[in-house]
Amino acid sequence: MKKLIIANWKLKPSTLKDAQGLAASISVKAKNTVVLCPPTIYLSQIDYPNLGAQDCFWQEKGAFTGQTSALQLKDLGVKYCIIGHSERRAVGDSDGMINFKIRALLENKIIPVLCVGFGTTVEQDDLEVVDVLRGQLAAGLKDIDASKVIVAYEPVWAIGTGKNASCEHAEKVAIFIRNKYKIPKVLYGGSVNVGNAAEFLRQPNIGGLLVGGASLNAKEFNSIINM
Ligand code: PGA
Repeated sequence: MKKLIIANWKLKPSTLKDAQGLAASISVKAKNTVVLCPPTIYLSQIDYPNLGAQDCFWQEKGAFTGQTSALQLKDLGVKYCIIGHSERRAVGDSDGMINFKIRALLENKIIPVLCVGFGTTVEQDDLEVVDVLRGQLAAGLKDIDASKVIVAYEPVWAIGTGKNASCEHAEKVAIFIRNKYKIPKVLYGGSVNVGNAAEFLRQPNIGGLLVGGASLNAKEFNSIINM
């Protein structure tokens, strides 16, 4: 079965030319469904079948300097949007703000990819991790039709560190999120690379991957999306 693989480019590359070059080198006929999430400023000028944004604002218009609305993203043809990434939570995104953003995305028919895992530690066992996630999921999904939301479990200690969570742990967390919150698709993210991606993708309850660093290397990312 096809899985969903989302590339989170974060604040890279530094030029539009490099971003267009990277997008052009990613296969459009991969085995899995692929979404590219370039920096917002490049979205209108990247040619790829599925585009995602890395964040959005919940208001549609008004005096909100520096923000980008879900309505504006829709106008650019964006189909997915990452929300609540640990790097956003670290600079102040609260569960309440995340909930508003998800609502705005759904109103604009953009699929929210809710990231959870901020505040978890490598020492925690499965139950302790689930306890942290409960708060983020309950508040983030408050009064929202969870069947329309994708969740990405990204333990914060695994992001950009080269230390991924074990597949067994990620699978258990995915089962919890799917069963408890009726989320159809749960992704894993955090130091996914060409060496560990296949094993995550083999887990029956992991519906795909959210890939940071390895998505900036076209050769490596093309291998991952064809696994
Ligand atoms: P990483 O990032 O793959 O570089 O660990 C994942 C993410 O932040 O979504």
